Parts: sequence; C-alpha cells; structure tokens
Amino acid sequence: MAVSIEEKIKKLQKQRDAVILVHNYQLPEVQDIADFTGDSLELSRKASRTDAKVIVFCGVYFMAETASILCPDKKVIMPDTQAGCPMADMLTAADLRKLKAKHPKAVVVGYVNTSAEVKAELDYCCTSSNAVAVVRALADSKEIIFVPDKYLADYVSKQTGIKLIGWNGYCPTHAKIAPEDIKRQKILHPQAKVIVHPECRPEVCAIADEVLSTSQMCVFTKETQAKEIIVGTEVGVIYRMKKDSPDKEFYPVSEAAICPNMKRTTQEKVLWALEDLKEEVQVSDDIRRRARKAIDRMLEIV
Ligand code: 13P
Ligand code: SF4
Repeated sequence: MAVSIEEKIKKLQKQRDAVILVHNYQLPEVQDIADFTGDSLELSRKASRTDAKVIVFCGVYFMAETASILCPDKKVIMPDTQAGCPMADMLTAADLRKLKAKHPKAVVVGYVNTSAEVKAELDYCCTSSNAVAVVRALADSKEIIFVPDKYLADYVSKQTGIKLIGWNGYCPTHAKIAPEDIKRQKILHPQAKVIVHPECRPEVCAIADEVLSTSQMCVFTKETQAKEIIVGTEVGVIYRMKKDSPDKEFYPVSEAAICPNMKRTTQEKVLWALEDLKEEVQVSDDIRRRARKAIDRMLEIV
C-alpha cells in the first residue's frame, strides 16, 4: 500500500526531532499535521518552550522570525519562505527610526506583524490578543507610538482611551471586510453572534459582538451558547472552529477574506522542508538581541 504524505511527514518528523507549529489560517491539510495550532502569541510561546531540535513553522515570515528570535539554538525552517505579510512590509526600520526622531520621548509599541529589524527598534512588542493590555500597562507614558496597523491602533485607542501615534499600515485581507458584509450575513442569520479580528476596519469592529485574536475566537466559538457564528477574519480559521464544534454553524463574513500568503504552505512543501531541513530562517545576533527585549517585555506584561 502506498504511504501517504502525512505518514511520511510523521516518520521524518520523528527522525529529525521536529515540532510542526501551524497558524490558525493555514490550509486544512496543514492544520491536520500540526503538533500545535494557534495564534501569533501562542505560537511564539510554544516555540520558546519546545524541546525539539527543529521547528517547522507553517505561517508567514515574521512569525517564523519571531520563533527564531526566541530560540537561537534551534533550527527554524519554513516550508515556503515567500510567505510574507504585506502589513509587515508596510513599515521599514528606517521609517520607524524617522518616526521615533519626530517623537523622541515616545514609548514605542509594535505589532508582532513586523520584521525583526523593526522589532529591534521597539520598546514593546504586542499581538492581537494582548495589544490592549500592553498599551494599558503604559498608560502613564506621555506619548505612545503604535505601529504599523492603523486599524489595530484605532481599536486599542478606543478600548484604552489612550491617544496613539500611528502608522498607515493595514492588512489587505482584513481591509476587504466591509460593514455591509456583516449586515448581509446578519439578515440571513439574525440569531448569529458576530466575531471579528481587530485588524478589521473600525466600522466593522463597531458592529461586532466581539473583537478577538484568532485563538480567542476559537475559544469563544467553543464556549458560547450561540449555535451560529458569523466570522470576520481570514476564512482558514473556520476549519478549526468546525472541528472543535461540529454542532455549530459558521458563516464567513466575506469569502474574499483570504490571505494568499497563508495558503502557500502545503503538506508536500512541509515534507520537502523536513527532507532538506530548509529553508532556515535566521536573524543576526545584534538584531535578535534587540528584538528579543521587546518580545520579553510583552511576555512580562501578559
Ligand atoms: P493572530 O495573532 O490573531 O492569529 O493574528 C495574526 C494575523 O496575522 C492576523 O491577520
Ligand atoms: Fe498579514 Fe493580513 Fe495575512 Fe495576517 S492575514 S498574515 S496581517 S496579510
């Protein structure tokens, strides 16, 4: 009988002493071979605590880079290093240095969706699940820079009542979601709860029942009494939700909310990555040391 790709991956994974970490937006076939599936914060935490020699990171580049920053002694490999994040590409370290020069007294908070070079310029890192807590912890600061996501900055600012100095970055996938999409789904499913990601536009966040990170969404959908949920984020997360709660109905706010970069990774590419132990994601020592400080400070707060 022919051996399936999945079986080959499992066998090779043991030989290589590798752990497979998978973001919630990945294709179902990739979620199916995960040792752990989670949001950005959870994946960083898992990476920092694993005993495995090799981390196979199925997500986008900044996530694998974060794992590499946290585990310099491990080999972090990505099945497709072309999987980037357009939002992370909207802010360079030079851009941030200029912004900091304009606001020399400001504390600098950066979303995890940034390059390692940008993280090296930050005082604090944050993710969608803890951005509000991180900024709240800095309430006594005179000025706070929050980059690069202008919509996340708006959401955090409204939640905390703290004015933030932002940047014109955004996620093209979440920016496609319009309030009309939610209204249309609400007419079709009036009993349904609406959950959205804080990368959505302010008009979208304003009419949602909950604004949550991808893993917070998965906890919510498991625990809620509601039988129907309208999901305002990248559609890939619905696979995990359905698996966890087969008795509930999930409706994507928009079928167009697809992150093409998250869909680049396949089982076949994971197998090749394990065979060749490539492509390795590495961060230079100087950048890693500086970026690590911002991540550690975030982890201290949460
Ligand atoms: P989460 O940390 O909520 O999984 O978000 C990551 C991301 O890139 C959302 O677009
Ligand atoms: Fe980046 Fe948006 Fe894709 Fe998340 S969904 S990885 S923010 S482009």
